[in-house]
Amino acid sequence: MNTDNLFSMPTSPADSRPDLLLQYLYQIQYQYSFIPQQSVKYLSEKLSLTESHIHGVIGFYSFLHESARGTYDILFSDSITDHMTGSRELMADLCKKLGVTPGEPRADGRVTVDTTSCTGMCDQGPAMLVNGWTVTRLDQGRIDAISQLIESNTAIEQWPDEFFQVEDNIQRRDFLLSDDSASADALRALIDQGDAAVLEQIESSGLRGRGGAGFKTGMKWRFCKQAEADQHFVVCNADEGEPGTFKDRVLLNSYADKVFDGMALCAGIIGAKKGYLYLRGEYRYLREPLEQILQQRRDEGLLGKDILGKQGFDFDIEIHMGAGAYICGEESSLIESLEGKRGIPRKRPPFPVTNGYMDQPTVVNNVETFISAALIAVHGAEWFRSVGTAESSGTKLLSISGDCEKPGIYEYPFGVSIQDILKDCGAIDAQAVQVAGAAGMTVPAEEFERRIAFEDVSTGGSLMVFNRERDMLDMVKNFADFFVHESCGFCTPCRVGGSLLKDLVNKVHSGHAGEYDLKEMSNIGQLMRTASHCGLGATAANPVLDTLSKFPNIYQKRLKHTGYEPAFDLDAALQDARDITGRDDPGAHIGTES
Ligand SMILES: Cc1cc2nc3c(=O)[nH]c(=O)nc-3n(C[C@H](O)[C@H](O)[C@H](O)COP(=O)(O)O)c2cc1C
Ligand code: SF4
Repeated sequence: MNTDNLFSMPTSPADSRPDLLLQYLYQIQYQYSFIPQQSVKYLSEKLSLTESHIHGVIGFYSFLHESARGTYDILFSDSITDHMTGSRELMADLCKKLGVTPGEPRADGRVTVDTTSCTGMCDQGPAMLVNGWTVTRLDQGRIDAISQLIESNTAIEQWPDEFFQVEDNIQRRDFLLSDDSASADALRALIDQGDAAVLEQIESSGLRGRGGAGFKTGMKWRFCKQAEADQHFVVCNADEGEPGTFKDRVLLNSYADKVFDGMALCAGIIGAKKGYLYLRGEYRYLREPLEQILQQRRDEGLLGKDILGKQGFDFDIEIHMGAGAYICGEESSLIESLEGKRGIPRKRPPFPVTNGYMDQPTVVNNVETFISAALIAVHGAEWFRSVGTAESSGTKLLSISGDCEKPGIYEYPFGVSIQDILKDCGAIDAQAVQVAGAAGMTVPAEEFERRIAFEDVSTGGSLMVFNRERDMLDMVKNFADFFVHESCGFCTPCRVGGSLLKDLVNKVHSGHAGEYDLKEMSNIGQLMRTASHCGLGATAANPVLDTLSKFPNIYQKRLKHTGYEPAFDLDAALQDARDITGRDDPGAHIGTES
């Protein structure tokens, strides 16, 4: 490989920051369809990192590969809602048409077809990525056309534009999505009122983080501001990997200026000069438009030196791409990833507000949280508190998908009941909703009067609907696979527990489990909850534990009523031995229990 061909590769000392490693690897992957060994050597020299460190980073991220993928590298989104709209059948058909075995490049190197975790297009699935670019609304016609485009070696730039169209799909607006304040109004408010007054407004607004955990935003910003250090950082978490969540995609597509306002506001308050937007690799198509908005803001004096003419108000934002790792949405893993490393969650405490990016005080907030903060600066705490509930002020954006007539983005005041949401989105005959994604809560129809709020059903934004025709065990199976795929492998309860749980779910699914296995699932799930190192392992058993108690029938109806059943058919496993010995008499078979 000629390294002259590597665009934007490190050539000067300023480009030789080790924290840029993942960004260089991401570029190389899409330029060559893999990371050639020469580029590992090159980066090792330029970034002063060992080759083994670089190999370790490549191995961590599912979008990076050390051996060549196909020229067209296709990844079908593997969320349960993609399954519900026929993704597996379409993928099987494409593989058949192209003569491809899933996961393996075709012999001529033209194409690879595989699956990947939810790509954030559940309202317009089934979806896939081709060389990182999102294709939505797959159907038989599109699959036939894609197969032909690949066989005729048509460049992706010449594929029909409509294949790559991603719609916002906003179905309901409240004060956040219908706000018409001008770009930079939040920064003007900061300059006019001063950072102490605006921080007080954010605190008294009661704003809590919209990424899932619901930590108080004002308190987080104050802790960070109070931490003494040479530098402070602002990080926007746009990893959005929770299956069924796609609201940040829409905010970044149509409200990016307000997200950047919120980040600059935070910077002005905590004293940060530098910010990062960590954008999930699946949203590659958003990167270029976001870079253009950042440049426009620099041109308009809203980023860079002396923002809006205020001396010393210096702040700029860099976009870093993720590369297919759900765990990197967890804030300490995200920081590791921003530093160019494997995204293994850190030990906490210390928390990012004192020891974050480069060990400096760092605020990490969700995309929606930054917009909410910007609007509080403009309209005040009272305005924000005027809707919502006692512990959950303001509104929440929900990404609604699954069995409903109008999937998409819905903004509601906190406190809205699930019943009302289902009416609005046209979900008739729902037996359950899964709120907050794979790590969240399964709510059965008997509990549809419950409310979306931190004090009741809390969510980062995902709400999937399942009608009465669905087998809820398919959902549980999909999530169990997801967590095994996404576990970072660092701690035993999650790494081993997750695999055991997945095997047991499969055992139930295939009709080989007994009561003993259900007890095992419950014990393993409890152990994962209490003994895992981070939130991923602590929540990975939720779908199993929740459905065991709320949907016992999906398990019971498949059980074999014996004390214990092996996970495999022992008699069938002995067929090879019988063939070799030429015996097939009753004595060569193991008796089966009735
Ligand atoms: C496994 C895991 C994945 C997460 N993914 C995201 C994510 O994609 N986006 C997000 O904002 N927060 C995510 N979080 C929560 C973050 O750790 C963190 O709490 C959040 O970014 C803080 O921002 P907020 O206070 O504005 O919500 C995740 C947490 C865990 C444990
Ligand atoms: S709980 Fe899972 S994801 Fe978290 S550190 Fe342990 S292995 Fe990694």
